[in-house]
Amino acid sequence: MKKINMPIGFMDSGLGGLSVLREAIHLMPKEDFLYFGDSKNAPYGTKEKEEIKRLTFEAVDRLVKRGIKGLVVACNTASGACLKDLRKEYPDLPIVGIEPAIKPAVICNQGGEILVLATPMTLKQEKFKNLFDVYKEEAKMVLVPCKGLMEFVEEGILSGPKLDEYFEENIEPYINENVESIVLGCTHYPFLKPYLEEKLQGKGIRLIDGSLGTAAELKRRLKELDLLKEEGVQGDIEIQNSIETEEMIERSFALLEA
Ligand code: DGL
Repeated sequence: MKKINMPIGFMDSGLGGLSVLREAIHLMPKEDFLYFGDSKNAPYGTKEKEEIKRLTFEAVDRLVKRGIKGLVVACNTASGACLKDLRKEYPDLPIVGIEPAIKPAVICNQGGEILVLATPMTLKQEKFKNLFDVYKEEAKMVLVPCKGLMEFVEEGILSGPKLDEYFEENIEPYINENVESIVLGCTHYPFLKPYLEEKLQGKGIRLIDGSLGTAAELKRRLKELDLLKEEGVQGDIEIQNSIETEEMIERSFALLEA
């Protein structure tokens, strides 16, 4: 098969990366996409770095074996743990990662506080610390490790009393009149945007995530390498999950439409 006609691979610890895939499909409708969610091993964000690395490499190997022309590590936790190692292992594959969207949050900040919601592991990693150090003088950032939040999306719970309880205990205590924006630093969280918008109604707090920026970076990289498919029929979307049930695949497609 000609390289340009190969699919673009996406991986995540579960269903979160679909928030990035959703943007990529809009930006590149002629491309074929192959998504792998490792829901059986989720969450990654409370595991040790070596374990996250092992699982990420396994997921990526699987996509590479199928044949892909580019890869999106659509997981902040996995990107933080091993993006550099992946690029070393696959020097000929264009690889795009994701990081909490601190930069856009700081750029539009007008003196308020920025809350950064992410998995505990994302916030602990060196990659994040380096990013934080670049912007720490420019805005007050408060880091909020959200252990247990991605699980709601995995289970298809996007609102309701259990999520209310989580919000009241883990996020609401950080909300005050100084908070100007919230960075959704885990790819699962954009699916909770409608819920959070309702909870934060009237407070004028901006919700920012990196999914569109990541999809745009993928498009730019493919174009630069003459690998961007811009003509032909609408592309195919294939979704695989390490939990091999129909329900998981149906939930995944439903999230793409969310
Ligand atoms: N979706 C993931 C992220 O962006 C990870 C969630 C998890 O597995 O803990 O970090």
